[in-house]
Amino acid sequence: MVKRQLPKPTELLELMQFKKPELNGTKRRLDGALTIADLQKIAKRRTPKAAFDYTDGAAEGELSLTRARQAFEDIEFHPDILRPAANVDTSVEVLGGRSALPFGIAPTGFTRLMQTEGESAGAGAAAAAGIPFTLSTLGTTSIEDVKATNPNGRNWFQLYVMRDRDISYGLVARAAAAGFDTLMFTVDTPIAGARLRDKRNGFSIPPQLTIGTIINAIPRPWWWIDFLTTPKLEFASLSTTGGTVGELLNSAMDPTISYEDLEYIRSIWPGKIIIKGVQNVADSKRLIDLGVDGIVLSNHGGRQLDRAPIPFHLLPEVVREVGKDATVMIDTGIMNGADIVASMALGAKFTLIGRAYLYGLMAGGRAGVDRTIEILRTEIERTMALLGVSSIEELEPRHVTQLQRLTPVAQPAARAARPRPAAAAKS
Ligand SMILES: Cc1cc2nc3c(=O)[nH]c(=O)nc-3n(C[C@H](O)[C@H](O)[C@H](O)COP(=O)(O)O)c2cc1C
Repeated sequence: MVKRQLPKPTELLELMQFKKPELNGTKRRLDGALTIADLQKIAKRRTPKAAFDYTDGAAEGELSLTRARQAFEDIEFHPDILRPAANVDTSVEVLGGRSALPFGIAPTGFTRLMQTEGESAGAGAAAAAGIPFTLSTLGTTSIEDVKATNPNGRNWFQLYVMRDRDISYGLVARAAAAGFDTLMFTVDTPIAGARLRDKRNGFSIPPQLTIGTIINAIPRPWWWIDFLTTPKLEFASLSTTGGTVGELLNSAMDPTISYEDLEYIRSIWPGKIIIKGVQNVADSKRLIDLGVDGIVLSNHGGRQLDRAPIPFHLLPEVVREVGKDATVMIDTGIMNGADIVASMALGAKFTLIGRAYLYGLMAGGRAGVDRTIEILRTEIERTMALLGVSSIEELEPRHVTQLQRLTPVAQPAARAARPRPAAAAKS
């Protein structure tokens, strides 16, 4: 029998402790976001369709991205019990410096298009969190302005080698002069991938006003007010003509870049150099043997070749082949701190976030990027503590099983590209 009594007024009063309403709309929105997917939803509400789709979308059927995210969801963790992990240290040593967290901000082009604070929000948030920030060749904030925003932290510069080598190498010189410590040479973009959402939206740089964009703008006035009252959206370090992003990329990129370019870039860059967009074991080995400081296993967030290898699946084999001391990094599909923990357990030395950062940016500018980092930090710390691990170095492959939905029909022996005949190489 349950014993009942009259409620006491003092107990009732205790229950009625209403929280003070948060009057700052941005803070209220961001505090309510508990995951990167929550930030993605807010970003979608607040950003014009064409800009959101440019960010959120990938190439062709978007299978590379969907599969990469699925691969992270298909992780099984193996915790140890009764191993106290009261204080979790999330910091790592990467490319000659410390990072407070095992991830940095990936290079993204046109960032001020997503939200007007753009790269400054990313660099400022990275500075505050003690993690590296990467500025894209197609950035909309200048090398020098990024340095001014993050004067004491780590800035990396991402290089696209363009047809006009002088432009590319001029940027390399400016990044070196501004004290950027690492050059990230992206090699998976000989031509632009087919971003079908951009085509369907008629998306162009600069954005064009059509009846559709105007109707879409009505519930998103702040983006347009920002857009119309801040400096013109253009590449900060390049001069370009307009067009779709694909057209801009195709006019700027050189499909004939090769290992010779890499050799030259190494001769002019004083800092660390890493190659981004590596997608097989043979290329990984070749690059590490050539003495580059690191590689990024990446399929460009699924924005280039669709149905590309899943970087997270490639990771264990690459680490086995290049040795556990080589700096192997990974990106594409990271939406949760647990994805980062799993990557580090399987031998990655660092990870990069692209869209997770941009969803935060679109959801709330600088405060939104801070929120992205906070969400990932909390997830990393919680996952580590639940695994019984108190530092990143303690993570081991045994902590993670990759559950595979897709297995190859037959495993080819080696996937090294065959050398081209000398005459054909330049055609
Ligand atoms: C909107 C957008 C723009 C990007 N621009 C560049 C770029 O200019 N240079 C580059 O090397 N990678 C670029 N990337 C790829 C990212 O650096 C990174 O590889 C990718 O976003 C990782 O996948 P994730 O978005 O799932 O984290 C871009 C990605 C996005 C989403």
